[in-house]
Amino acid sequence: KTVSWSPAAAEKDGYKHFMLKEIHEQPRAVRDTLRGKFFAGKVVLSDLRLQPNEISDIKRIILVACGTSWHAAMVGKYYLEKYTRIPTEVDIASEYRYRQKIIDSGTLVIPVSQSGETADTLAALKEAKTMGAKVLCICNVMDSSIPRESHGVLYTNAGPEIGVASTKAFTTQLAALYLMTLYLAQERNQLTPEQVADKIVDLEAIPAAMESVLQDGERYARFAERYHNYTDFLFLGRSYNLPIALEGALKLKEISYIHAEGYASGEMKHGPIALIDENMPVVVIATPSEVHEKVLSNMEEVMARKGRVIAISTNSTAVEAVADTFIVPEVPEEFSPMVNVIPTQFIAYYISDFKGCDVDQPRNLAKSVTVE
Ligand code: G6P
Repeated sequence: KTVSWSPAAAEKDGYKHFMLKEIHEQPRAVRDTLRGKFFAGKVVLSDLRLQPNEISDIKRIILVACGTSWHAAMVGKYYLEKYTRIPTEVDIASEYRYRQKIIDSGTLVIPVSQSGETADTLAALKEAKTMGAKVLCICNVMDSSIPRESHGVLYTNAGPEIGVASTKAFTTQLAALYLMTLYLAQERNQLTPEQVADKIVDLEAIPAAMESVLQDGERYARFAERYHNYTDFLFLGRSYNLPIALEGALKLKEISYIHAEGYASGEMKHGPIALIDENMPVVVIATPSEVHEKVLSNMEEVMARKGRVIAISTNSTAVEAVADTFIVPEVPEEFSPMVNVIPTQFIAYYISDFKGCDVDQPRNLAKSVTVE
């Protein structure tokens, strides 16, 4: 009698690849990241081990990370500046570690890392700590090097991520960054208990919104059949969704080896617009936002140059005449990155699979880069 499954296949829960399984795990992973963090309408993050005076002393925040974690950190800057009003920078760890840093006791450094072992992020952390910064990390792997070197930690409970291209680690990092923001704003009395409670309710509704996008996998598979032969893609987004445009382009490059660029849609006219023709699909993140009208006009500029627009939108009629629309549920703008990233993950996944690439182990890439 032969056994028709292997231990590795069993771990994939019937999914063809770990990446697909991990894409589908995201609602669960975000729920697990939020679990146990709320008591009586308050955010409680005891592993940050922050004293009240340390919270009020924060004057500047610096997020450091690499790769997909860096994109999450970019969204984190929007969260932190909006609610804590503390000036916040985001830096690539390999840049930050060698920069002439400005650090004092009012500087909070937040390394963001799935593995907790990325050499550049770890080195940046150590440098900043030596210079007197307070260090609180966001990490997915318990007791890995980055949490061990930090003063405090907020774990993303995504569970093991096997696919080299990061998916559930990213969405849980966004949830963790939002939690950390709420916590700091609450402790600094910048949000009332009612406001915090309302935001918690909104955040807890996001996993269900993510689930509804996950049901559309087949549509993305058909899209991949039509689009796998293009050699260049552009991803456009603004505001909270600029990092999602960057992340969508990164995913496509990583696993399908198609050249892709992510760009701030308002910046398109300063360069990338020269590239636009019918041979370059342009994925536009066009969900409702404070800059929605501007995104729509960016989209029209693309179409006027015969560009092929693929819209990620809550509504198919608002963006008529586009080549393809992927519908996502409407959620408050600040949480839209957690929902909007899923279509970009699916686009990359299904194109990679259609091309027969090694989805989980793309060439030249490592899950965790522990050397410089
Ligand atoms: C590698 C991985 C990426 C990841 C990056 C940062 O490049 O392939 O998926 O985003 O490292 O890793 P970290 O573990 O620090 O989040």
